[in-house]
Amino acid sequence: MSASSLVKIAKHGNVAVLTVNNPPVNTLSIKVREDTHTALDEMARWPDVKAVVLICEGRTFISGADINEFAGPPQEVPYRQMFARIEQLPVPVVAAMHGTVMGGGLEISLACHYRVAAPSTRFSFPEVTLGIIPGAGGTQRMPRLIGVEKTLDMVLNAKPVDAKTAVDWGFIDALIDGDLKEGALRFAEKLVADGKGPRRTSERSVDPSTCTAAILDRMNALAAKLYPNRVAPYTAIKAVRASLDLPLAKGLEYETELANESKATPESKGSIHAFFAERETRKIPDLPADTQARPVKVAGVIGAGTMGGGIAICFANAGIPVTVLDASDEGLKRGMAGIDKTYESMVKRGRITAEEKAQRLALITPSLKYEDLKSADVIIEAVFEDMKLKQDVFRKLDAVAKPNAVLGTNTSTLDINEIAKVTKRPADVIGLHFFSPANVMPLLEVVRTDTTGPAVIKTVMELAKPLRKTPVLARVCYGFIGNRMMEGYAREAGRMTLEGATPREVDSALQKFGMAMGMLAVFDMAGVDVGVKVHQANAAQYPPDPTYYQSDFALYEAGRLGQKTGKGYYRYEPGDRTPQDDPEAIAILRERGKKLGLEPRKHTEQEIVERCIYPLMNEAIRILEEGIAIRASDVDVVWTAGYGFPRYRGGPLYYADQIGLKTLLDGMLKYQKIFGPMHWQPAKLLVELVQKGMSIADWERSRRPGK
Ligand SMILES: NC(=O)c1ccc[n+]([C@@H]2O[C@H](COP(=O)([O-])OP(=O)(O)OC[C@H]3O[C@@H](n4cnc5c(N)ncnc54)[C@H](O)[C@@H]3O)[C@@H](O)[C@H]2O)c1
Repeated sequence: MSASSLVKIAKHGNVAVLTVNNPPVNTLSIKVREDTHTALDEMARWPDVKAVVLICEGRTFISGADINEFAGPPQEVPYRQMFARIEQLPVPVVAAMHGTVMGGGLEISLACHYRVAAPSTRFSFPEVTLGIIPGAGGTQRMPRLIGVEKTLDMVLNAKPVDAKTAVDWGFIDALIDGDLKEGALRFAEKLVADGKGPRRTSERSVDPSTCTAAILDRMNALAAKLYPNRVAPYTAIKAVRASLDLPLAKGLEYETELANESKATPESKGSIHAFFAERETRKIPDLPADTQARPVKVAGVIGAGTMGGGIAICFANAGIPVTVLDASDEGLKRGMAGIDKTYESMVKRGRITAEEKAQRLALITPSLKYEDLKSADVIIEAVFEDMKLKQDVFRKLDAVAKPNAVLGTNTSTLDINEIAKVTKRPADVIGLHFFSPANVMPLLEVVRTDTTGPAVIKTVMELAKPLRKTPVLARVCYGFIGNRMMEGYAREAGRMTLEGATPREVDSALQKFGMAMGMLAVFDMAGVDVGVKVHQANAAQYPPDPTYYQSDFALYEAGRLGQKTGKGYYRYEPGDRTPQDDPEAIAILRERGKKLGLEPRKHTEQEIVERCIYPLMNEAIRILEEGIAIRASDVDVVWTAGYGFPRYRGGPLYYADQIGLKTLLDGMLKYQKIFGPMHWQPAKLLVELVQKGMSIADWERSRRPGK
């Protein structure tokens, strides 16, 4: 066993302990698999081993497969053989687990003969969310332990199962309080003392009562509900279903066949692109290599409204004390009550304990005085969207904030250069655009001004980690990356309702495409008035199109502001956020359309999707061309993490490459013929790339230094 081995083996009496140590999360990399074989070779030379414990160092048991391998060539050390070798050992093998045990980590434990776990351990099969299926025995071994129904529950929901449930379901034999290794050794010694031998999962059969037609129907319905347009969930159902009839060896072969099929699908490639895209966003090519992030130990938030409250919660959840300042006592009280309510609902849903709620609330200090912000390392402004007001806040901040404090603004539309200018420290000012609800949405658009300093950029990109955000760096422009792309997408969604499409027709076509929500339901959720006010305030910046966002204006004028007034594009029952079709809204929209000279007509789903998605992708290309985003995959992350674009399609720019830039250009020109060039002007870069026969990925490769 070499010193660099990631798997160590040691003897404790008659028990051999295999310890995996592959930080940070013990992925089952090729090297771990190789080293496991080496360790097993060595163990084979020990004559008196009566039991084996498989355990991991660090924060978790094997967390899963190494996802880097999905993108590369076929694996050199196959999982299946290695797991079979463990399963065939002649002495009982105990997996001792802690942390987050996912996918391949869970599958290796199923090849062991017994499983014990720390009470806080969580188990999951997340594969279908990546467009693939458990491919290392999970679909065949798990049903032998807990049946088809529960296995599919895990595979389709892809959510963690806690350790207690795992014991109830029967795939964990015992929970170990206290020291896991000691407990696992005692467990193994008892097996030996009781004369228990190997208990191979492969030798068990699946309980047929867990795989009735009714159960399979329910699972197919669940797959249809959770994953519209997707293949992987159905492939997973097929694989798990097969465990009922096939002996393990045959079942594993079938699973491999299906797993390979699923890896080749566009949905798996798109999902894996989205996964890697999120890892790239922190790489900022122009930051000097020696740039140091500033420590953030204390935070401040100005404005205790919707966003300020959510941002304060993010800090408190990260264990960072935060002072929340508002202009009025009333605003502050309302804000603190909102924060309390959010935590209370987390307690009710079992997400945190009442004690954790109290601890987190204790980190949030309300204040009316700017002096209370003087020890903050980061201060984020989230007052009303008004330039004069924000500049005034930044002047005050400039006066009290300590040197080197990062001064962030959560503005959605304002020019942050103009905000930075009013301070004597423009290098410390940066946009920190959270999304609503700020404590839930994973995206953080970080907006650098012309003057933001490298250390400030580095600080906030690092700060995103404890705040549990995916940061994407953008430059200043109207709407930054996300909202700028939203403009055309939302414009067309609304405009089609003036042309006779019902809100339901528009939204359901978009949802069928894979958007998490329909655009018009989003308008209702955010408030129809929000968009209208932004348009009123920025009228001069918008194109001279008489139909422009007129659906919003028509509803606004009729007092239909969305969910908060119980009616907008849809109607809402009190206390229920489900959008209901509303003939009154449809009539208002058609009436406005008629006034604008638009005759009602039928829209196909294809037209709806194209008219929304093409401008979205076209604008994304402009954003890339102008250098507002660093890379195409960053744009993809903004829309997958912040706007509900389907991850399995990779993101708008990845998707543009998949359908082909020529298709996009032809589509833009097709609608230009119908609606004119005002909104349907193809991006220059799009035209250029189509002429050269290049994709966006080709273009990015061509610009890389040393290509
Ligand atoms: N709501 C969203 O979905 C969303 C999303 C992203 C960004 N934003 C941006 O975040 C900012 C805040 O939006 P919101 O929705 O939270 O607004 P909000 O109206 O809910 O809250 C604003 C808060 O700021 C307080 N305030 C006003 N003037 C102040 C001052 N001078 N000093 C201290 N506090 C003051 C108000 O009392 C209020 O509590 C805006 O710039 C908005 O564009 C909003």
